[in-house]
Amino acid sequence: MAKVGVWLVGAQGSLESTVVLGARALARRLAAGGGLVTELSELAGLPLVGLGDLAFGGWDIAPTGLVEHARALARDDAAAPESLVARLEGDLEAVEARVRPGFADGGGPANRPHRSRSFLPRSESLVAAVERLGDDLDRFRSDQKLDTVIVVNVAATEPPLPLTREHQRLDRLRRLIQRDQRAIVTPSMVYAYAALERGCPYVNFTPSSAIAAPALQELGLKHHVPFYGSDGKTGETLLKTVLAPLFRYRNLQVLSWEGFNILGGGDGRVLADPRHKRSKVRSKGGVLGAALGYAPHARVGIEYVPSLGNWKTAWDFVHFRGFLGTKMSVHFIWQGCDSILAAPLVLDLVRLAEFAQRKGEAGPMTHLACFFKDPLGVTEQSFVEQFRLLTDYVARHRKNDRHTKNDRHPKNGRKRPRARGLRG
Ligand SMILES: NC(=O)c1ccc[n+]([C@@H]2O[C@H](COP(=O)([O-])OP(=O)(O)OC[C@H]3O[C@@H](n4cnc5c(N)ncnc54)[C@H](O)[C@@H]3O)[C@@H](O)[C@H]2O)c1
Repeated sequence: MAKVGVWLVGAQGSLESTVVLGARALARRLAAGGGLVTELSELAGLPLVGLGDLAFGGWDIAPTGLVEHARALARDDAAAPESLVARLEGDLEAVEARVRPGFADGGGPANRPHRSRSFLPRSESLVAAVERLGDDLDRFRSDQKLDTVIVVNVAATEPPLPLTREHQRLDRLRRLIQRDQRAIVTPSMVYAYAALERGCPYVNFTPSSAIAAPALQELGLKHHVPFYGSDGKTGETLLKTVLAPLFRYRNLQVLSWEGFNILGGGDGRVLADPRHKRSKVRSKGGVLGAALGYAPHARVGIEYVPSLGNWKTAWDFVHFRGFLGTKMSVHFIWQGCDSILAAPLVLDLVRLAEFAQRKGEAGPMTHLACFFKDPLGVTEQSFVEQFRLLTDYVARHRKNDRHTKNDRHPKNGRKRPRARGLRG
């Protein structure tokens, strides 16, 4: 089986730390794999890379954090046994030592690298940054003897950047980079550019612009690379895309859907800045209209509560109208450990992106829509329908594999000569 590299953008954060902890715990059979979609029987037909065949590295603007986040997950958040983190500390330290300096300029006011200035190159042009980051990927691939490297953006959320005509075409984006127009090229775009240009599949798990820029999608297609995003769907929005079809198919009119979220951790701290929060509110806010077929009155509130650490709570109030115009309501409360919800999905996305690349697929992986709040190129927002895109994809591959197997001689495994038609 292939050895696959996973290069995390934002590698010193809590999600990335949980991804590495979880992958190593499962590879060493120290924990159970609940929450992994790729372990469902529906996906059993896909020969996916084993978690023990993944090697990790990444970029960050902070020089340390990965090991400490794993310790905090156990010590402060009670989300993993402390003994598990202690047993895997060596594995975590090895990954932390592989974290390379990222690119910070334009990542927004809440993502300024205060204490780690010396970790990052000074006054680097965009051209030099793209080159340096691409070289990091090539070095990781050759040092670790990897067949491929999957790049996943799990860095802190950037403020939204309105896409202009300069982001629509690759030649124009290239010109922006060459002219060092950093006001309209964000770090998430720089990372995606470096990854796609070096032929690495790319996934954006955050609401930052990145792969939303058509110019970057053009770059992915040019290098025949699969890519997808944006913003992993792990909590309140996941529930919205499950519940909204209920109202739709019972002909119950949703009058208002008010959501109020509180969270701690680094994500909560960054989203406390209204400029960064706008990106998250936008990606969370887009689902209801598409799932219901109309847009009810709906607000999404996000507040930072430091004492919550890695935990988040969403309280939603749904006001709806039924028979004879009677108004009724549903409330739900979702309490989850942010990184524990998201980490298995990151591993799923890595395995599915690697599989797509191995099968020679390129472009947007729309079969992965069910993983995202704002799925690229998919307007369907019902979770069940989105999941069907994934199972249809699996069925297509099973069918193709059966054909390929039938094409082979059962004893020697060689390709059977195809029966020729009259005109063959
Ligand atoms: N349930 C979830 O955890 C979940 C769900 C969907 C999306 N996300 C997104 O995943 C991201 C990570 O979440 P987290 O909880 O790990 O946050 P975190 O604050 O713990 O980690 C973010 C990391 O990104 C780094 N970073 C900031 N700017 C960077 C840059 N320019 N380049 C490289 N690294 C940079 C930070 O130094 C930090 O180590 C956030 O954008 C969040 O919105 C998380």
